[in-house]
Amino acid sequence: MAKFPTFPTSRPRRLRHTPALRAMVRETELNPRDFIYPLFVRHGQGIRREVPSMPGVFQLSVDQLAAEAEEVASLGIPAVILFGIPAQKDPVGLENFAPDGIVQQAVRTIKEAVPDMVVVTDVCLCEYTDHGHCGLLNVGDPRPHPHLPEGYVLNDPTLEIIGKVAVSHAEAGADIVAPSGMMDGMVQAIRRALDEAQYEHIPILSYAVKYASGFYGPFRDAAESPPKFGDRSSHQMDPANAAEALKEASIDIAEGADMLMVKPALPYLDVIRRVKDAFPEVPLAAYNVSGEYSMIKAAAANGWLDERRVVLEALTAIKRAGADLILTYHAKDAARWLASD
Ligand code: PBG
Repeated sequence: MAKFPTFPTSRPRRLRHTPALRAMVRETELNPRDFIYPLFVRHGQGIRREVPSMPGVFQLSVDQLAAEAEEVASLGIPAVILFGIPAQKDPVGLENFAPDGIVQQAVRTIKEAVPDMVVVTDVCLCEYTDHGHCGLLNVGDPRPHPHLPEGYVLNDPTLEIIGKVAVSHAEAGADIVAPSGMMDGMVQAIRRALDEAQYEHIPILSYAVKYASGFYGPFRDAAESPPKFGDRSSHQMDPANAAEALKEASIDIAEGADMLMVKPALPYLDVIRRVKDAFPEVPLAAYNVSGEYSMIKAAAANGWLDERRVVLEALTAIKRAGADLILTYHAKDAARWLASD
């Protein structure tokens, strides 16, 4: 038996009659409090360099960050996530855990300017290594690992480095660390390293469910981090898999993740929903990634889409799918539009 009577008793249009009625029955409400705004930081002075494939997104030097953070805060956005472009790259990515590294400087500057701003740091190797991979490589003669192929991203040796990176971000004043490298055991390694250094109060936002996605293309321009050879399929997830997302999420929770992330967002709304349903107690973030941003910006620049309308629709859809928090390059625009509604 049908749950609802049929027409003419049922007329769903009755509740869509006026804007006020529609607002009363709206199930999902987007709020700037949901947003985490990504920032790209580089060395130098007075730099505000637009990323060609991401109009409206800039690489900033540290001296630009106080004003930027104040603007973000004034829009009601509570958090930023930092990505650094180092002065020099090497096989290990030494600047990644240097006390005066670019991200460490950025964290200190933002926390000084806007102490209440929640500063999240991305913990990975790919922006810092000269080969552009997310871990140490199986290279050399003899190779560090005898049974794995040359150039393979080594898991366990990489864990030691990301533990150091997380501690150095915490020392600089980061509020949350977010490992994005999809190494097995990365959450456990970071939790142990933080606890040992008495940062047991610093939460971990794990990029637990991160796909090997073509949608990261523009980010790799922005962060100057494309892999010099090969791709990231030996550690990031296969886009065809969804059940596996629950395994990744479950393992990361067991290792100590305080929050989880699904990335990208729009092509993976089903995965966001499944992870939220499986772990409703754990705050879930979704990363509306660079390629998702660039597609809308490109179409809007051509007059093919109404930017404001589709951005708010896309972000609402991500929240409706089950995300509590959204990392998005649209955050400042969306916050302005929401305020003017
Ligand atoms: C890795 C990292 C990436 C993104 C965030 N963290 C790139 C990658 O895995 O290649 C992508 C974000 C985006 O596309 O907006 N440090």
